[in-house]
Amino acid sequence: MSVMNPGTKYGRVGDIEMKNRRWPSAKITKAPVWCSVDLRDGNQALVNPMGVDTKLAFFDLLVKVGFKEIEVGFPAASDTEFEFMRRLIEEKRIPEDVTVQVLCQAREALVKKTLEAIKGAPHAIFHLYNSTSPAQRKYTFNKSKEEIKQIAIEGIKCIKSCLTDEERKNIRIEYSPESFSHTEIDYAVEVCDAVMKEWGATKDNKIIFNLPTTVECYTPNVYADAIEYFADHISDREAVIISTHCHNDRGTGVASAELALLAGADRTEGCLFGNGERTGNLDIVNVALNMYAQGIDPELDFRDIQGIGEKYTEYTGMEIFPRTPYVGELVFTAFSGSHQDAIRKGMAARTKMEKNALWDVPYLYIDPHDIGRQYEGIIRINSQSGKGGAAYILENDYGLILPKAMHPALGKVVQAEADRAQRELQTKEIYDIFEKQWFGKKDNIQILDLSETHVESKKDDEDLETTLCRGVIVWKGQQFIIGEKGNGPLDAFAAALGSTPAPKFSVTAFHEHSIGTGTNTSAIAYVQLTCEDGNEYWGVGKSTSVGRAGIAAIVSALNQI
Ligand code: KIV
Ligand code: ZN
Repeated sequence: MSVMNPGTKYGRVGDIEMKNRRWPSAKITKAPVWCSVDLRDGNQALVNPMGVDTKLAFFDLLVKVGFKEIEVGFPAASDTEFEFMRRLIEEKRIPEDVTVQVLCQAREALVKKTLEAIKGAPHAIFHLYNSTSPAQRKYTFNKSKEEIKQIAIEGIKCIKSCLTDEERKNIRIEYSPESFSHTEIDYAVEVCDAVMKEWGATKDNKIIFNLPTTVECYTPNVYADAIEYFADHISDREAVIISTHCHNDRGTGVASAELALLAGADRTEGCLFGNGERTGNLDIVNVALNMYAQGIDPELDFRDIQGIGEKYTEYTGMEIFPRTPYVGELVFTAFSGSHQDAIRKGMAARTKMEKNALWDVPYLYIDPHDIGRQYEGIIRINSQSGKGGAAYILENDYGLILPKAMHPALGKVVQAEADRAQRELQTKEIYDIFEKQWFGKKDNIQILDLSETHVESKKDDEDLETTLCRGVIVWKGQQFIIGEKGNGPLDAFAAALGSTPAPKFSVTAFHEHSIGTGTNTSAIAYVQLTCEDGNEYWGVGKSTSVGRAGIAAIVSALNQI
């Protein structure tokens, strides 16, 4: 038997008898009505709830992101919440196309205080709730199903009685059977039907039924069943906006909200980056950008996700986990060498495509640029990285285009350093390793003096062009005067070394490119030497002349031995 045997302590929750469920074949085709609950559900879960000024700044951020419905608080619960609501109204901070929402329990004194708080708002959503699950009925309220239903009806009656006909036009009702996820589905429908009847909701004056997974206690498919069942059984579906409010206790809040949209939900409540009670509310950014990544306009603006994340952290004091989808620090970073290689190739291929070509870069779910993130951080080097990553950084950040055949040699020295450091290496460190390895080694050979002369001669009536290379070198501490002819500077220098104890070699690869611009242009040469014993060595040289860069590269290669 397993050591963690749940026995009879836990069991399946919420299975719903469904005859012909439709949602598994549905598709998400448009954004729902989004409602941010950051300033209420998110706020109530903070170690230090936000003050009025912070809430005002957060409200402005939510408006900028594009939320048209924003739950701003629980005005009857504290002076701060009340004052915040009043300031929004009195300082005319609510844009015409934004509706503020206030939460209130179905209790007369609280309803009255809440209505006082929203007086003068151009339009508002009054969000009434009471708990309906068996455990809440039994332990918290010690009331019957009928009595619990009456609490909801009385709440609606109270709101109606406090409003003039004129005021009623500007107020919409949202009702939440709180703890819906643990409530018997038929009973939840019964309570909502009673609420709808009491308020007098119609097709033109819809009521919002918010069906929360107050505690996420079942798998997302069961939540989708609950939403579809509710939609099919509520007495007047036309008069209802079905809203979801998913918490994340099982870590499947995003999936629940998405499947609920398939099941017919019209509206989605959630918080930026999933803040909220316990494991949080639905991460609304995640759902919106999931839509974006499937070609659907999310109707929210996350083009500067990093800026939004920074403000969120400042206002709430909450950190963002580095692997949070889209916003986490590491989500556009590849550590594995094969991932880096595939990304590099995918990116290179895109440079030849049309601007709006379908995104298909391996390992990058979306184009980081779309949400204001950068390609620069994509490749980092640690001991798990392959040869391609370091070469990519040298090319991307330093303009050094190492031949592919040299990548393993570079990868080996970089990997050894990453192993030694036991951490990720920064871009500059990678360049320093490269420089030390190929420009900094002087133990075997150094040039003290060198000249090349272009020689034109005739042999058997044929014009011959050769280069004469003369100079003084040091091999392992001993000086040698060298001089020899060759087809070019590289060839002549290689031949001239024949008179020294340096190992005999042939140049088996040569690549060069220019680097820099204008008067700062230099040549970079990469050579591969194959020695008599079969060993191969890469060298790199830099000079204002291609010939000299090649000679420097030979010297660099001989210093690798
Ligand atoms: O999670 C919940 O049930 C709530 C309600 C007040 C809607 O936050
Ligand atoms: Zn909640």
